[in-house]
Amino acid sequence: MRAFDLDAWMARSRALDLSEIDWAAVRLCSVSSDTIRTLRYMQDIEFHTIIYMRKLLATRAIDDPEVATFLACWLHEETFHGLALASFLDAAGHPVGPRRRPRSREPLAQWLESRAIAALSSVWPDFCAVHMVWGAINELTTLTGYRRLAAIAGHPVLTELLERIMGDESRHFFFYYRQAEQRLQHPAPARVARLLVDRFWAPVGSGVGPADDLIFMARYLFAGDDGRAAVRRVDDTIRRLPGFATVRLLEAWMDRHVGALTS
Ligand SMILES: [Fe+2]
Ligand SMILES: [Fe+2]
Repeated sequence: MRAFDLDAWMARSRALDLSEIDWAAVRLCSVSSDTIRTLRYMQDIEFHTIIYMRKLLATRAIDDPEVATFLACWLHEETFHGLALASFLDAAGHPVGPRRRPRSREPLAQWLESRAIAALSSVWPDFCAVHMVWGAINELTTLTGYRRLAAIAGHPVLTELLERIMGDESRHFFFYYRQAEQRLQHPAPARVARLLVDRFWAPVGSGVGPADDLIFMARYLFAGDDGRAAVRRVDDTIRRLPGFATVRLLEAWMDRHVGALTS
């Protein structure tokens, strides 16, 4: 796999280009209620990036100049993904209303999790390795989710919009994956990162929105043969990272929470 060119990416990093999206055409094709529910959830998760960032700002991830630079541009791009999905929902006649719980009001469990992450980061010099693996898994899952949504929804304007978002997500994934690959070369960080992923990983968005919505979305996007194949591709890609050859991720989570995938 080629190297990630951070300078080139930074120079190109910008708000999602929506200039050619035909918003007026959104209503010319029907959008199912299942697609709307999925988009609402995804839109909320995109906007939640700023909260994820708050956790990271308290860790030594920001001491690494490359990672800190990446995170600044990454947050900018993810924010525009949220805005783009909100625009689609609006054009489809389902505008996003105010959030039930303000983002600034952090549930106790998440507050404790943030403190634990900050504490771990302060005592473990290789903390960034686990953050990079986590980012790679989440970006790949997101990218795969959008690809599946475009295929399932079959809506031309949504497909066009998602293709643009997927371009960003694949670059995000590439950065995290290359970083993880380098940082996991040493057995000690690889062992600890693997242990933490085995113990604590859950799909991106877990604990952010209602659990029912996450389960619904997972079933909607990943049930059936094509969905199962996509889930396995995510797991297989992460298994190529040093120390992760036997990791069980998305497919195992689907089996536990959505029901066993057939065959
Ligand atoms: Fe995104
Ligand atoms: Fe992303």
